[in-house]
Amino acid sequence: MKILMCRPDYFDIEYEINPWMSIQRKANTKKAAEQWNNLHKVIQSCGAHVELVPPARSLPDMCFTANAGLLYKGRIVLANFKVIERKGEVPYYEAWFQKAGFKVINRPGYDQNNAFFEGAGDALLAGDQLFVGYGFRSERKFYEEADYLDHKKMVICELADPYYYHIDTCFCPLNEKQAIWCPKAFTKESQKRMADHIELIEVVESEAKRFACNAVVINKNVVVPSGCPQITETLHKHGYIVHACEVDEYIKSGGACKCLTMKLD
Ligand code: ARG
Repeated sequence: MKILMCRPDYFDIEYEINPWMSIQRKANTKKAAEQWNNLHKVIQSCGAHVELVPPARSLPDMCFTANAGLLYKGRIVLANFKVIERKGEVPYYEAWFQKAGFKVINRPGYDQNNAFFEGAGDALLAGDQLFVGYGFRSERKFYEEADYLDHKKMVICELADPYYYHIDTCFCPLNEKQAIWCPKAFTKESQKRMADHIELIEVVESEAKRFACNAVVINKNVVVPSGCPQITETLHKHGYIVHACEVDEYIKSGGACKCLTMKLD
């Protein structure tokens, strides 16, 4: 498995674009670097190959590569950020994808439908089913109009709680049949639809708030934020090897393990 990450050289809390962020609560940048280095090491120790996109100055959230785009059927669906603070990241990600030899299918100014889409932060594959989130950042219209997505294999999920503003903050497929989730993050109607498509394992709220659902699944390994003992036990029971990583500096920004990664295969 290949994963894209970005060193947090310019990471900090410089604006507030989700309820977790407060410019009063700056990041400890030294700690953030240590936490990222450890996550990077743990992900590699799980057998993943990590590629790095160089960070860019004045883009403090660029380390959250989950939002760069979505790899879908061998091609990159590039993000179109809703938040202006992050729009500047796109040309850097795009240049990296092109250089790495990926075909980018919705380049800005070309065939992009202009609706907002924040990449793999809002679109998660479980086998060939694509669970997509909307309500805060990405727009429903984006999915409906994207003719390169298989609409028969798409489960559109409405997010209902601003603390869980990307689907990867509250839902995480473990394999094609099972996922962990925080149900209250979704509207009742979406909860039902999701349950029709995948077996759902509930995360207790105290751990959902610690970003338990923001986990990186690498075969039988699951990398979760530290401080999530209950989901750790549940995952053990299901035969997974759990690696806890401290990512508290990133939680200040509304992100954790999974947000700092993007799957490249
Ligand atoms: N501060 C970033 C933002 O609000 C965090 C992004 C987290 N990414 C994610 N995939 N959930 O955009």
